[in-house]
Amino acid sequence: MTLAIVSALPDELAALQARLDVDHTQTLAGRTLHRGRLAGHDAILVLCGVGKVAAATTTALLLDRFDVGELLFTGVAGGIGPGVAVGDVVVADTLLQHDMDASPLFPRWEVPLTGLSRFAADGALSARLARAAAQVLREAPPPALREFGVQAPRVHTGLVISGDRFVSSHAEVDTLRAELPDALAVEMEGAAVAQVCHDFGRPFAVLRSISDRADDAAHVDFPRFLRQVAAPYSRDIVLAALQAG
Ligand code: ADE
Repeated sequence: MTLAIVSALPDELAALQARLDVDHTQTLAGRTLHRGRLAGHDAILVLCGVGKVAAATTTALLLDRFDVGELLFTGVAGGIGPGVAVGDVVVADTLLQHDMDASPLFPRWEVPLTGLSRFAADGALSARLARAAAQVLREAPPPALREFGVQAPRVHTGLVISGDRFVSSHAEVDTLRAELPDALAVEMEGAAVAQVCHDFGRPFAVLRSISDRADDAAHVDFPRFLRQVAAPYSRDIVLAALQAG
């Protein structure tokens, strides 16, 4: 069974990619897929680019062309839930497209003709990632967390929302919070991956480290966080999950 691992940005995947024993590289629809062995497991690693269309195209390619048993999306997100702080880790249990709105024809957020607004991640894979994340935070958190003022990072499991917009104002966060009070984090790909995996009937999980609070300072330190925290988080949590399973 092959595990596909997808990220939007190069720095989100770089550290994990360095651990892949590559035996084949190919390019499809502008995406470069690296196939090989990761901690003893067959794996395909690919960068999809930013946004829901990029994520959906990549997911559909992976699921249609390769024997992918499980798909994992890893990267960063903005924390919007109370108590979801920079340096924390969020594992999605459900995902929703916050910018999907075909009302009044369909209920707000519902993906028309699916009857669904919230798409569930695979319970077993997500639980494995959450346990691995807790272990990494306990035993070997990225040393650079201290430079971001992070003392005691936590793992959260819950709703992750996605849209084609980098959220970077208090006003927008307040609106999202008022409308979707149980949302923990906002990003730009996860719910698209969820919809495609649902269509294909294939299990998936979404793992995000919190790079910002989606407020007016959201862009500050973003590249440094990606390199120094998000990259080692993805590598160490995914490797711990693979070693446990
Ligand atoms: N990914 C990381 N931070 C984000 C934000 N504030 N909005 C959307 N996607 C993000």
